[in-house]
Amino acid sequence: MIREKTIVLGVTGSIAAYKAVELASKLTQEGARVNVVMTTSAQEFVTPMTFRTVTQQPVVTEMFDIASEISAAHIALAERADVVVIAPATANVMAKLACGIADDMLCCTVLATKAPVIVAPAMHANMYENHATQENVSKLKARGFTFVGPAYGRLAGGASGLGRFAEIGEILGTIHQVLGRGGDLAGRRIAVSAGGTREPIDPARVIGNRSSGKMGYAIAEAARDRGAYVVLVSAPTALNPPVGMEVVQVETTIQMRDAIVNATAQADALIMAAAPADFRPVATAESKIKRKGETITLELVENPDILGEVRSDLARVGFAAESENVVENATEKLKRKNLDLIAANDITATDSGFDVDTNKVVLIDRDGNVEDLPLLSKYEVANRILDKVVELLPKESV
Ligand code: PMT
Repeated sequence: MIREKTIVLGVTGSIAAYKAVELASKLTQEGARVNVVMTTSAQEFVTPMTFRTVTQQPVVTEMFDIASEISAAHIALAERADVVVIAPATANVMAKLACGIADDMLCCTVLATKAPVIVAPAMHANMYENHATQENVSKLKARGFTFVGPAYGRLAGGASGLGRFAEIGEILGTIHQVLGRGGDLAGRRIAVSAGGTREPIDPARVIGNRSSGKMGYAIAEAARDRGAYVVLVSAPTALNPPVGMEVVQVETTIQMRDAIVNATAQADALIMAAAPADFRPVATAESKIKRKGETITLELVENPDILGEVRSDLARVGFAAESENVVENATEKLKRKNLDLIAANDITATDSGFDVDTNKVVLIDRDGNVEDLPLLSKYEVANRILDKVVELLPKESV
């Protein structure tokens, strides 16, 4: 979604300006054209040369900037932009934009653009919480600007408070989400499950599995980036909750079942990438089980099959984690669980399956069509699955 898009990155005078270099670099690596516009005070913190080097694009620093190689720069940039991102945004730039003041290149560009504008504020907490700043934030939000952050945390100078520049991942997620509006899943509600559920044995121990949640999170992010309203039901993972979606945290399979039944009440599709524990202890010990130098027996009971308990009139996609006879076993699961599509996962293949960034899957649909995908990033696998989901959804409600 971001590839070949033009992103105008406005950098203003905050110590967080150095973090905008990483943002510019990541966007460039994802294939976007990043045109940086720096205010005069931003140049006190980072040089234009740094941005020019990481983006391989001219950096605009002056109102009448012949050296920038962009003629009538504010109009050219304003028209070319698919999105304008002001990161970091000071109280000063927000005040100027709220009042429609156009006395620098960045404000001129924002006033002249029809592209969506994302603002990532960074300032001292007292400045952010000041009534004047809060009024400006409200005005800009009312005009359709999207805010990301600020976060609560340590600020320059050592104090803590609300004013910290949002994490780069959060800003990137917001850019993806904004650029994805109007994508081929716009207006659709997609429920996604991720991670391995855990069944408590006693207050300290659980039955679990090796799912990291990466596959499910990639699907949720890819669906968001194509315009869907996403509900991500997540078992415990080490991943940060993605922005731009509803995230429901659960621990056990029964909790995941309840959350999925809720999430699918209104959904157009369900994609079950989670690895729910199939069994749970018959009883959870109230205190930690002590070693006694003897064998202990754990009695297990079957958990519900979540896919078997959701509405059958939505598009339902399952995964099959298989270690042998991958296509045969997955086809049997597709039929038994009455799915529209299954992603058969060879968990013994190198760099595939649990806790890696890539996956090797075979897609099998209910008509018996088989598509053997190469080893891809989990985000790319997600998009290949979503291509099929788009085809499964009824066209009239698009
Ligand atoms: O999280 P990662 O580290 O990125 O790893 C990704 C993955 C390997 C976990 C993922 O790609 C995957 O294969 N997920 C499915 C794992 C699994 O539970 O497979 P299964 O063959 O046991 O289940 C088949 C389908 O039924 C799955 O869609 C599963 O979510 C669903 N299921 C399973 C058990 C249960 N009680 N209810 C279910 O609905």
